[in-house]
Amino acid sequence: MLNDVGIYGLGSMGRNLSLNFVDKGFRVSVYNGLETDKKQNAQKFTDDNTSTKTLYGFTNLNEYVFSLTKPRMIIIIVTAGEPVNDVIAQLVPLLDRNDTIIDAGNSHYADTTSRLQKLSKYGIYFIGCGISGGWKGALHGPSVMLGGSAEVSEKVTELFDKVSAKDEHGHPCCKWMGNEGAGHFIKMIHNGIEYAMMQTIAEAYDILKKVLRLSNSEISLIFSDWNREEISGYLISATSNVLSIKDEDGSCLIDHVIDKSLQKGTGKDIAICGLDYGVNVSVIIEAVNARFLSVSELRNNNNQYTNNANAINDKLDHEAVVNNLLDTIYCSHLTSIIQGIDLIQKVSGAQSWDISVDKVFAAWKNGCIIKTDVINDISALLNEYTLAEIMVRRIDVTRLDSLVGIVTLGAKTLIPLPASSATLNYLLAIVSNSLPSNLIQLQREYFGFHGFELKGNPGTLRHLKDGIL
Ligand code: 6PG
Repeated sequence: MLNDVGIYGLGSMGRNLSLNFVDKGFRVSVYNGLETDKKQNAQKFTDDNTSTKTLYGFTNLNEYVFSLTKPRMIIIIVTAGEPVNDVIAQLVPLLDRNDTIIDAGNSHYADTTSRLQKLSKYGIYFIGCGISGGWKGALHGPSVMLGGSAEVSEKVTELFDKVSAKDEHGHPCCKWMGNEGAGHFIKMIHNGIEYAMMQTIAEAYDILKKVLRLSNSEISLIFSDWNREEISGYLISATSNVLSIKDEDGSCLIDHVIDKSLQKGTGKDIAICGLDYGVNVSVIIEAVNARFLSVSELRNNNNQYTNNANAINDKLDHEAVVNNLLDTIYCSHLTSIIQGIDLIQKVSGAQSWDISVDKVFAAWKNGCIIKTDVINDISALLNEYTLAEIMVRRIDVTRLDSLVGIVTLGAKTLIPLPASSATLNYLLAIVSNSLPSNLIQLQREYFGFHGFELKGNPGTLRHLKDGIL
């Protein structure tokens, strides 16, 4: 009897996704590559799961491919970049027309589009599948963002519907985003928002620790309280949990962790994409930059500035600061999501993908890392208001005051708050009735003869002559 689906790649994501498929009643073939250690890993995985009757491990690629029912569906979960090309190159000679390869790693969306085009010459369908939720999500139900060969959209959506997370009404958090690289594009946007949310949360932690001088367990409790407020979400709850993890000696693990944050690159991809398409994704970019700066050799803690947090702390209303931080996280989460949607709309239009933001939000409803009630707030207004209107409706004067208060507090206590500050600057620019861009236009004209438009006559470029109009 042939198997329903193949998984190629048995890292933590591949292993758990395989078990999830088996759990939903599928017969699953797994393969992990030709190298000895990979073969052993595959063997151990299947040995460890002998009670799992419909999981079949293979160490021979031909046997693996021929174990699958036709037209075949093979999900590859390997490191993005060359490894994906290598696996595709191994599979293609063994596959038939109408078989489908599904790349469920964090590939760049442009790579997905070009792989799809190459594979279409062989009659092989290709899907870019963004999966969010980490290894636990892969096992219990991830959020799934699909895109690629339209011919198999229904079949592939049906497959992933079974293993994906479900929303409160039982609907799968698995959506078809569009053709070509649309699925991986949405996963990239997800990850950019993930970076921004993580950075804002980290900034709040920094203020709670260094200005309010709270202990890790007190901060953990605050995050746990916040998880019952309007910023409730996966990352808020995860933060509360990680702050309470103890080291072997009973001390808090967080205090022993080196303060350098790394990245695999998807945050950087969205920053570049925003710049390429002329869309301001400043909160996301600041979060990416913060990671770069954390590992920069320019960091030097022997500076001449004195942190006056102690003196300021004595005069602070602690409860008010905690409330202001809650509002700041709300503002920043909202802003990074709106920046992400702005980029989705721009790229979707340019690529003719016609991505529905409602579908994106439906996929992000559960199972993903950026699951948050803030998304529900935006979603409720999306079909009635513009993005700018949603911002000002949700960030009322009280929330704005809180944000200003926290950014000011950060400056006074010499604590960098790049994502929170970027949120404030973005919002102020959006709502300002005039920006100093008129001066920039005249500067450009003055030295570069680039032209400028006059109020009352937009669309007509004017020039200075000998420094005068
Ligand atoms: C998810 C995550 C997951 C992971 C990425 C980004 O949605 O489950 O986004 O894909 O976090 O690998 O990790 P970096 O922080 O290393 O870029």
